[in-house]
Amino acid sequence: MGLRTAFRTRYLDVLASIYLYNEHRGYTSLDRVLEAVRERCPGDHAFQAEIAKHRADERKHYLMFRRWFEREGRMPLVVDRGVGHIDRFIQWVFHCTIEELDTHRIVTEPDEFERLCRVIMLTEQRGYRQVEVILKNRLIMSDPVMRKIFEIVHRDEPDHFLPYQRWLEGQGRATARWNECAADWCIHKVLMLGKLPALFLDAGRARMARWPDEADGLPEAVGAG
Ligand SMILES: [Fe+2]
Ligand SMILES: [Fe+2]
Repeated sequence: MGLRTAFRTRYLDVLASIYLYNEHRGYTSLDRVLEAVRERCPGDHAFQAEIAKHRADERKHYLMFRRWFEREGRMPLVVDRGVGHIDRFIQWVFHCTIEELDTHRIVTEPDEFERLCRVIMLTEQRGYRQVEVILKNRLIMSDPVMRKIFEIVHRDEPDHFLPYQRWLEGQGRATARWNECAADWCIHKVLMLGKLPALFLDAGRARMARWPDEADGLPEAVGAG
């Protein structure tokens, strides 16, 4: 394999492994959010339906990356929650892991619920901007399946932050605080400038033995640790 091909293969492998993790983390975490919204806004069926659609999209994205790996005949690289934008954001804002989030407390305290909505909104807006960068990347776009995947992700993404943004605006609440925007920016830099290159250079990095969704519904997801 030529150097250029090896570089390209490794780059796509790392990128797809990070995306696969984040998409899986996205749809499994949205189950918790939906739980909270049903309790906080029981009559707001439109908002609940938007979140259910958001969850379905993230699962669809996860499956697209899984199929990409299946087609390539490789398993994704083992990654941990350090590559999860939402994991880091929740940790920063709520000082706990996603699993430890106390949904009931969040629902009963309006400020906390709004904070959760803002974290999701900012994460998705970041995702949207990142996909726009990816769509201009010739190396990634040289893989036709990857190109198709990111075009679909780009088309779906606005539906993922607009519901939370509209809900916050409807409550007359600020849609973003400066410190949350700063946290989002820092997390993005850590992932792009630290995590991604480290994973790229880690030649001995193991591959997952099982797909993360095989553990859906079980207490601790495989591949998340
Ligand atoms: Fe997604
Ligand atoms: Fe999304």
